[in-house]
Amino acid sequence: MKKSKTAVKGRGEIPSDLEDFLSKNDSRIHDELFEFLRIPSVSAKSEHNGDTKRAADWVKNALDKIGVPAKIYPTAGHPIVMGEWRKAPGAPTVLIYGHYDVQPAEPLDLWTSPPFEPTMRNGKIFARGSVDDKGQLFLHIKALEAHLAMRKKLPVNVVIIAEGEEEVGSDNLAEFVVEQKELLKADAVVISDSAMFAPGLPSILSSLRGLAYFEINVQGPAGDLHSGSYGGAVVNPAMALARILATFHDKDGRIAIPGFYKKVREWDPRIRKQMRSLPFDDRTLMKETSVAALGGEKGYSTLEKLWIRPTCEVNGMLSGYTGEGAKTVLPAKAMAKVSCRLVPDQDPADIAKLMKAHVAKVAPKGVKVRVDTLHGGRPWRAELNGPIYDAARSALRAAFGKEPVITGEGGSIPVVGDFQKILGAPVLLVGFGLPGENAHAPDEWMSDENFRLGMRAVATLWDEYGGKAGRGKSEEVEDDRD
Ligand code: BES
Ligand code: ZN
Repeated sequence: MKKSKTAVKGRGEIPSDLEDFLSKNDSRIHDELFEFLRIPSVSAKSEHNGDTKRAADWVKNALDKIGVPAKIYPTAGHPIVMGEWRKAPGAPTVLIYGHYDVQPAEPLDLWTSPPFEPTMRNGKIFARGSVDDKGQLFLHIKALEAHLAMRKKLPVNVVIIAEGEEEVGSDNLAEFVVEQKELLKADAVVISDSAMFAPGLPSILSSLRGLAYFEINVQGPAGDLHSGSYGGAVVNPAMALARILATFHDKDGRIAIPGFYKKVREWDPRIRKQMRSLPFDDRTLMKETSVAALGGEKGYSTLEKLWIRPTCEVNGMLSGYTGEGAKTVLPAKAMAKVSCRLVPDQDPADIAKLMKAHVAKVAPKGVKVRVDTLHGGRPWRAELNGPIYDAARSALRAAFGKEPVITGEGGSIPVVGDFQKILGAPVLLVGFGLPGENAHAPDEWMSDENFRLGMRAVATLWDEYGGKAGRGKSEEVEDDRD
């Protein structure tokens, strides 16, 4: 079949055969996505282990079906699925990564439609995992299918892995990457598990924050006590915990754990300048989150606070009586979940040491305090140049009709730092989510337009990358396909 490039709805140049395939198969593709979204693959909850396994099998079958033979690799936790297609000698190899696990859906009563019954409303696909990350993983599978169905081949060699533990810290993935280093060797890693800066504005990520997650337990008396009979003399664990947490920041919002900023690398002034040029308004964020004022570290813009500065947050607290009415009790214990978002070159293991030393120092007498590390992930910063980035810019322009912007991200994808370190390959993070998509919250959604354009952008990316990095100009690739 002769491939020609056509402008689709004035958006740019998506190869017409791929566009034809994706539009003709649109309804089946949506049916399949909805089937994937119906599987409640909640990695954090063991009651869903069977569903998580089912989601892994589903991904394997989806890859087998399109002609990318896949295998399931068991781990100490949830399995990893890996598919391979290596029939383009001389062309570059790409490693595509995504995750098939999702966050818990609770609180269920806040969902407009049930989390595992995908529903389309106003151009949005509502379901747990729609955008994070099943929809974005699936659009990659369909982009590969478009090539294989229309041309019986791909312009690049492909290894695709889907893991089932991203939402719980990817504990078993780094080991897998080390073990399978040879199989995973690639010229570039491509991941869609993030968001665009604004609707219609395609975005390439320049950084991700890392994570160091802790549980702090404070134990006071052996059991709950009458707060009248004992309060005032016996140290209250809830108050002790509050005091400890209050030492984490100074009055300017800086983290006051000694040594915390030691390894924080200065950011390139050009990137900071570019950040300031993005269309962003504090009031939009206040509206999106329904808050009357923003906080955080003095001396930095909001985007800097979110993307390039570290944080230390309380994610949850538990202590004493929390039921209806009043109960005069001095609780025996208190607990807090605390996580620090990290920036280059902070190391989660170093931060864990600093946190433990600091808590031990500030813990009041009269209570026992324990800090456990739950999980961690390295921060990451992109190089942003080379053939994969050039190809991504062209492909995003073709699909969205706009020059992509470079953005940062405050969230974490633990394996990204490992990929860069272990495989030594550049990582391209190109996401198709949108602000306000409710990832991790009730009513998570993915824009259907972005799902469709994402498939087209990624399908075009492989032509652009195969052409640019592999076989010279893309015209030569076209000649092969008569
Ligand atoms: N897809 C997100 C990462 C992300 C978050 C990208 C926000 C863009 C915007 C990912 O699935 C995620 O939520 N990661 C966790 C990692 C953690 C559980 C180790 C995170 O950032 O909290
Ligand atoms: Zn995700």
